[in-house]
Amino acid sequence: MRLPRAEAHDLEFLPELAADPDTEPFLAPISAQTPEEFAEEIDRAGREPRHYGRLIIERDLVGSAERMGSVAYEVANRRSRIAYVYELAAASRYRGRGSGVEAAWLLVRFLIEELGYHRIQVEIYAFNERAIRVAERAGFIREGLKRKAYWRNETWIDRVMLGIVAEDIDRLIVARPRITSRPSSAVRVAAAVSPAAAGGREPTAPGLCKPSLARWVVTVAV
Ligand SMILES: CC(C)(COP(=O)(O)OP(=O)(O)OC[C@H]1O[C@@H](n2cnc3c(N)ncnc32)[C@H](O)[C@@H]1OP(=O)(O)O)[C@@H](O)C(=O)NCCC(=O)NCCS
Repeated sequence: MRLPRAEAHDLEFLPELAADPDTEPFLAPISAQTPEEFAEEIDRAGREPRHYGRLIIERDLVGSAERMGSVAYEVANRRSRIAYVYELAAASRYRGRGSGVEAAWLLVRFLIEELGYHRIQVEIYAFNERAIRVAERAGFIREGLKRKAYWRNETWIDRVMLGIVAEDIDRLIVARPRITSRPSSAVRVAAAVSPAAAGGREPTAPGLCKPSLARWVVTVAV
């Protein structure tokens, strides 16, 4: 699996995914939906790749790649190095095979080990038990509930808040043999591309953005 940054040629795929009746009810109504809105997101991420990203969840095939879904992140607090992850979505035909969990885990490691974030957070509608399960399987800890926080479908909806911090990563690597023992190990790949991951050193300090960052791709061999 790889998580390349979305580009102009994804502007057909992304609105289709967001509008899918199996996806749309679980995303915030304010999320990007049209090609223009996704194009704006992609532009912003190109200008500030450390702070914004719209990524494609891709499966490598021989000589080509298959788009399985998408996920996005944005900075929530620059000083405290908090990123917010949102709109994880997989196309219906790819669900239930562990790719949601793997994509979330890859993204968490990218944000912490490559971009130097200290804390990653996510908010999920309380009725979306599947997505909460996916976040928890990827290592997020349930931290609280925003009661009746969002107006949706003529009613107030609770949102579950989950978070993961840099210190959790080592514990999770040991505790998650399913991901780390497979050939598609995020650990080995992160180590291959990230001196921080390989040497166990502190993540890159924010502001020290690598010149190649805009092209950095979360990648894993399957
Ligand atoms: C959330 C989403 C990305 C997960 O993708 P996926 O590839 O199906 O996820 P995985 O196969 O990695 O994992 C699914 C997990 O949810 C569990 N699950 C499935 N349906 C469930 C349900 N109704 N309630 C609770 N858990 C459920 C599965 O058992 C599995 O957990 P397990 O591995 O412990 O058995 C995908 O379902 C999706 O795109 N949903 C619509 C958009 C959405 O809800 N996004 C989240 C917005 S915050």
